[in-house]
Amino acid sequence: MDQTRKIKMMIPGPVEVHPDVLKAMGTPVEPHYGDAWVQKYQHVLDILREIFDTSGDVFLMVGSGTCAIDAAMGSCLQSGERILIGNNGFFGDRLVSIAEHNGLDVVQIKTEWEKAIDPQQIHEALKKDASIKAVAVVHGETSTTILNPIHEIGPLVRKRGALFLVDAVSSLGGVPFEMDAWCVDVCASATQKCLGAPPGLAPIALNERAWRSIDRLEKGEHGWYGDLRIWRQYAQEWGSWHPSPITMATNNVNALLVSLSQLMQEGIPARMERYRRLAVQVRRGLREAGFPPFTPDDMMNPVLTAGVMPKGQDSASIVKYLLDEYAVQISGGLGALKSKIFRIGHMSPIMTEADIQLVVDALKNYPG
Ligand SMILES: Cc1ncc(COP(=O)(O)O)c(C=O)c1O
Repeated sequence: MDQTRKIKMMIPGPVEVHPDVLKAMGTPVEPHYGDAWVQKYQHVLDILREIFDTSGDVFLMVGSGTCAIDAAMGSCLQSGERILIGNNGFFGDRLVSIAEHNGLDVVQIKTEWEKAIDPQQIHEALKKDASIKAVAVVHGETSTTILNPIHEIGPLVRKRGALFLVDAVSSLGGVPFEMDAWCVDVCASATQKCLGAPPGLAPIALNERAWRSIDRLEKGEHGWYGDLRIWRQYAQEWGSWHPSPITMATNNVNALLVSLSQLMQEGIPARMERYRRLAVQVRRGLREAGFPPFTPDDMMNPVLTAGVMPKGQDSASIVKYLLDEYAVQISGGLGALKSKIFRIGHMSPIMTEADIQLVVDALKNYPG
């Protein structure tokens, strides 16, 4: 393959980032402590707090989104405690695996991959089993494009007194999210998707209820790095000089600051509306090209859309066709949907209507 060819990335993350974000990645390495650093770092956390829409605490872990999910489960619960996982996709399965690796006792509500998690099923399970300490659900299930109704599940989980952990890795910054209003206690995300920065950082937010669950445990028993108490301790005791327990990835933070500042300048509602319009354009184009969207319009994910292949055809061929003929990289499905759907990510802040049109036109020309 021609290595100099510029590929248009339209996968479900990582995303193409703004040139100014890339430029910030290339600035000289700087100390992760001292007055200037602390001021910048706190500013990033303040913006993230607005995006999570929480008055709780926010930390920025060096790692991918999984690192923050692992920290959430490992910090809030101790081995043997029961967690209920609403599972309707590949990343629901991943939540199960992370919980099991933390020694948790997992019970699941397994839902078909075509459907969203039913809040009432979660409520019923909690009513029947008072030993469930926490519930975990993926917001945007990237494997299927399904958005789970976090806003409906949260109040029910709160009513039953359990803790609510949400994986917003592929939704935060692109899909409306109100952590406090939706009764989410811990939320984990990543920078390489709707937040428009390179991979490498994992924002995590948590509230007082989460801290109570953490503080009731004698000590973190799932390692040091992911113990959120350690992150709080450094924020409190070293906050005015060295606000993280580890060497922060300063270049990634600089890049994130640029992308977050662009988001705040555009305005969160305006950014969401722009994504929504792009999603409508994708869906219209898919239908015109003969690949119906995987989800109905009333379940539209504003940052990610899947098209369904005609019977007997494999989505791998369309992924290859777009890459070979149009230099556009999209993704196939995952798991049981691997060959049945293809996924177009439109979660990059620099995605345009013209980019979408390029894909739509290419799909219309697909020889099949
Ligand atoms: C919903 C969801 N959860 C978790 C992950 C894992 O995140 P990471 O690869 O940043 O660890 C992903 C990655 O695509 C995801 O889409």
